[in-house]
Amino acid sequence: MLPLLSDNSFQHFVLSTDNVLAASVVVNSAVRSSSRPEKTVFHLITDKKTYPAMHSWFALYPPSPAIVEVKGVHMFDWLTRENIPVLEAIETHHAVRNHYLGNHVKGTNVSDDPRIFASKLQAKSPKYISLLNHLRIYLPELFPNLNKVIFLDDDIVIQHDLSPLWNINMAGKVNGAVETCRGEDKWVMSKHFRTYFNFSHPVISENFNPDECAWAYGMNIFDLTAWRKTKIRDIYHYWLKENLKSNLTLWKFGTLPPALVAFRGHILPINPSWHMLGLGYQEKTDLDQVKKTAVIHYNGQCKPWLEIGFKHLQPFWTKHVNYSNDFIRNCHILDPEEYEQDRA
Ligand SMILES: *[C@@H]1O[C@H](CO)[C@@H](O)[C@H](O)[C@H]1NC(C)=O
Ligand SMILES: *[C@@H]1O[C@H](CO)[C@@H](O)[C@H](O)[C@H]1NC(C)=O
Ligand SMILES: *[C@@H]1O[C@H](CO)[C@@H](O)[C@H](O)[C@H]1NC(C)=O
Ligand SMILES: *[C@@H]1O[C@H](CO)[C@@H](O)[C@H](O)[C@H]1NC(C)=O
Repeated sequence: MLPLLSDNSFQHFVLSTDNVLAASVVVNSAVRSSSRPEKTVFHLITDKKTYPAMHSWFALYPPSPAIVEVKGVHMFDWLTRENIPVLEAIETHHAVRNHYLGNHVKGTNVSDDPRIFASKLQAKSPKYISLLNHLRIYLPELFPNLNKVIFLDDDIVIQHDLSPLWNINMAGKVNGAVETCRGEDKWVMSKHFRTYFNFSHPVISENFNPDECAWAYGMNIFDLTAWRKTKIRDIYHYWLKENLKSNLTLWKFGTLPPALVAFRGHILPINPSWHMLGLGYQEKTDLDQVKKTAVIHYNGQCKPWLEIGFKHLQPFWTKHVNYSNDFIRNCHILDPEEYEQDRA
């Protein structure tokens, strides 16, 4: 292993995804915006099936001077059944199986609004229960030599230098995140515990406050040293098990609810100008604000690489895709010019 992969004088970003193009946009946009690309390392984690493609892509197009390390989940010795007993339970739980392996497309109607169709499909996507998505809760173990990492989702674009985030005083907190319960945008920024949990359930109402502010994944600064002194992973596992025991009535699927619980008391709120949410479900977005924000996040169904992405928000993403590249040309992925020609 290259020593700089665990050199804490570098800025370490972690991204876990099975989408090569999305990963390349995250990496390219980060390198382009960085004031210190030569001190930047990206750790990409992907599944076994995507590993060869992901690895080849970044071997062909290294974002030098930044460093990219690509690993498949099968390459981490730590990821064993013993260490993550709950995930297997989730994937084999009868209610989960019924939900995901049942009638996949029943109730979806191709002649529906494409956005609704996509959202129904995505709601059933096994992505929400996949290991790749839950991996973020194992960062201290997956990167035992690192003190601090920034964890990124694959549906974001980085537009400003993130270097200042490395100097934030975490004040003993573990997770630097944007809170989502206040802000000008009354739809995107109105998330409390009651948004995510079933407060009709006694286990929830006895343990949590419905008014507690939620925070977002997408761009999080994790102090792994502080994290290693906590029981965050155990609490996460405990509540996953509770939800399984309750037949998944405590919260719907997703990795955020158990994390909201596990990171309670360990959140350092960061300024919302670092991370703008909702570009994948909010059509009426203030474009000036989009331009100004350091990280824009296409959370929601309307991903910028899909036909259903919002046309006025796609250029912020497509500008980091190299349409002269042969692979990309042959894939016909949302080439803005081609799209215009098709319409003409
Ligand atoms: C699908 O939608 C079309 C148009 O709205 C409607 O005519 C049709 O009955 C729907 N099919 C089903 C199976 O719901
Ligand atoms: C959980 O749901 C299954 C069917 O989905 C049902 O057979 C079982 O009785 C439920 N268990 C509890 C404890 O409610
Ligand atoms: C919420 O919890 C109550 C009480 O256990 C249960 O009856 C209800 O079905 C749950 N709601 C959901 C959406 O799971
Ligand atoms: C885009 O791809 C072409 C063909 O692979 C390459 O020559 C060019 O340098 C790339 N441009 C950028 C900005 O990476």
